[in-house]
Formats: sequence, C-alpha cells, structure tokens
Amino acid sequence: MAAAVLRRVRLVVLVLAVVGAAEGVETTHIKVYWHDVVSGASPTAVQVARAATTNSSATFFGAVVVIDDPLTEGPDMKNSAPVGRAQGTYISAGKDKVALLMNMNFVFQSGRYNGSTVAIMGRNEVFSAVREMAIVGGTGVFRWAQGYAQARTHTLDMKTGDATVEYNLYIKH
Ligand SMILES: *[C@@H]1O[C@H](CO)[C@@H](O)[C@H](O)[C@H]1NC(C)=O
Ligand SMILES: *[C@@H]1O[C@H](CO)[C@@H](O)[C@H](O)[C@H]1NC(C)=O
Repeated sequence: MAAAVLRRVRLVVLVLAVVGAAEGVETTHIKVYWHDVVSGASPTAVQVARAATTNSSATFFGAVVVIDDPLTEGPDMKNSAPVGRAQGTYISAGKDKVALLMNMNFVFQSGRYNGSTVAIMGRNEVFSAVREMAIVGGTGVFRWAQGYAQARTHTLDMKTGDATVEYNLYIKH
C-alpha cells in the first residue's frame, strides 16, 4: 500500500518535472539591423563626454556616447520595417584599439516581442568582423534572459561615422 502510494507520488513528481522543463526554457534567435546615426540634424547617437586626452584621430579612448538607435528588420533604415530601439550608452574603453563597452537595452516595439526588452553588455571591438557580447537579462517575454549577441558591421561611412550593424541575438528565456 505505502509502496504503491510512493510510486504514484514519484510518477507525479517526474511528470511535473518534465512539464516544468518543457515550459521553462526557450531559445529565440532574433536578427535585427542597428543604425548608429551620428551625423545630420537629428543624430541618434550623441557624444556626451570625453577626456581631455581623447583623440578622435585615434581610438577615441575616454569618450561616452548616448544612443537611441533605430532597429529595423532589414539593412535599409528608411525602407525596412521598424522593430524597436537600442537605448543606452557606449564608452570608448580601448586605449590602443577602438573597443567599445556597449551597455544597452533592445526595446522591442512591434510584433510578438512588443513591449519586451533585452539587456546587452559587452566588448565591441568595432573593426573586427564578428563581435560577441553578453545578453545579461530581459523583461516581458524575455524575463530571466541569458544569451549572447553577435555583431557584424554591414556599412560604415568613414566620412560621417554613420554605421549599420547586423545583430544576431541568441536568447535563452
Ligand atoms: C592622435 O592620434 C593620431 C593617430 O594615431 C596621432 O598621429 C596624433 O599625434 C594624436 N594626437 C595627439 C594629440 O596625441
Ligand atoms: C506595441 O504596443 C503598444 C502598447 O501596447 C501599442 O500602442 C502599439 O501599437 C504596439 N505596436 C505595434 C507595432 O504593434
């Protein structure tokens, strides 16, 4: 009798554990294009501070930039569907190489992620082909998020400084 009850309890616990695991973790891949507009009358990336020794002909070490950059589905900023915004800062944290500390939220404003965010923090050595950054959290659909982002420069206008970067997010949540 007691053994039968114990077996049943074990079975229920096992079933609950399996259901919990199945509902628990999802992996989502999102590809977006991030547009850093530093030029023109309405920039989406503005420098707010720099060290007295910051050299804009070199690595910009010591500069701090605040961004509210558009995120779109495709690489063409004007004609591609808007996905949301990348809001935060980047800091030129490399003395000998252009290496940014990215600290930003991707704020989704359309589709099934509308209203959700993911927090990205990581090192972005902008002249290397692929830069990997950590996804350290999220809200809404992305509560409990962990993962990584890979950034690849799509276009960089060396005259204006405007850039379009492809971001691939791999999110466990
Ligand atoms: C700024 O960097 C450029 C390129 O490395 C260098 O030629 C120049 O001397 C630097 N300027 C200062 C003030 O250090
Ligand atoms: C996203 O959600 C907001 C707030 O609920 C809503 O006003 C807006 O229309 C939604 N946007 C899209 C593109 O669905």
